[in-house]
Amino acid sequence: EAAERGGYEHFMIKEIYEQPKAIRETMTGRLAKDDSGVIFDELNWTKEYVASIRKVAIVACGTAYHAGMVGKYLIEKLTRIPVEVDVASEFRYRSPLVDEHTLTVIISQSGETLDTLAGLKEAKKQGSRVLAVTNVVGSSIAREADHVIYTWAGPEIAVASTKAYTTQLIVMALLSVYMGGLKGTIPPETSKELCHGLKNLPAQAHELLEDVEAIKTFAEQYGFNEDVFFIGRSLDYAVALEGSLKLKEISYIHAEAYSAGELKHGTLALIIEGIPVIALATQLDVYEKMLSNIKEVKARDAVVIGIGFKGDTEIDKYVDHTIFIPATNKYLTPILSVIPLQLLAYYAAVTRGCDVDKPRNLAKSVTVE
Ligand code: G6P
Repeated sequence: EAAERGGYEHFMIKEIYEQPKAIRETMTGRLAKDDSGVIFDELNWTKEYVASIRKVAIVACGTAYHAGMVGKYLIEKLTRIPVEVDVASEFRYRSPLVDEHTLTVIISQSGETLDTLAGLKEAKKQGSRVLAVTNVVGSSIAREADHVIYTWAGPEIAVASTKAYTTQLIVMALLSVYMGGLKGTIPPETSKELCHGLKNLPAQAHELLEDVEAIKTFAEQYGFNEDVFFIGRSLDYAVALEGSLKLKEISYIHAEAYSAGELKHGTLALIIEGIPVIALATQLDVYEKMLSNIKEVKARDAVVIGIGFKGDTEIDKYVDHTIFIPATNKYLTPILSVIPLQLLAYYAAVTRGCDVDKPRNLAKSVTVE
């Protein structure tokens, strides 16, 4: 096993460091050379087909569900098609309203999660076309779906998903640009900017992984707290959900993610002196609103770690520490902002002496109900 870990202490950290490569491979052959758009030979959809889609239903579990949350924001923004996201165990039992005008997108790293597979079958039974996004060639979900887009993350061994998630996000971005291109809802310059932004991601992810000392220190400093909150708005909220899941899965710290605007509807009551709050502030459309939320938790003496863009001097005034990510297109920020959160969870788990790769009670692939 030590040989398989290739010099890393755990599979999880090895897989975190494999992200630049995984991201690059998932994009290979899928971006037009002149950055004009996205190519999916495995789909080959027509303008007419995309125009006929009235709803997209995304179905997944765990981390893949969080990738679906990002997918909802992206697909709605770039195609103007309404998107619902469900956890598979809810979708399959709620008589979902899907039909031949629905595109159901099933996301699953393993392609074997029982509830997700059952969700796929339910969608097909109702007449929906099904697109699977999976990391395992020939998996049950890949075989049952009408179309498959593979994430090329390579084998993921650690129970806590990292590189599979970022490659699922890449597919969500590619799919939104692809569908938006066919639907005519993305101006050519936006499409170009997105393609260009996507191409830069592997190098930017690499840059983020180069300097992890500060994150290690935060994990050591706050790793023994029993409660941590994650807040964000828009895409940052979706990333907050994933950051909180990572932390609870492997470090057993009670972590909760909230859309920052919801704080005052309950969670603010739990914010007391010294509670760590991870505040993501990469969504410039709602930046001022996010700063107000940061001030709200600071006023209750929380310790705030902000995640912002490099060069953002404003956020520094209100938080205790800042982790900076490289500047990218607003739709692509989750792919970078999740990396410090994965590292934070990893180093917190190491600090607490947890079994990082095999957390208690959890399995890599859940093939029972
Ligand atoms: C398990 C794993 C998670 C994963 C989820 C869905 O709970 O521990 O890491 O996100 O299943 O798995 P899938 O293979 O369908 O993406």
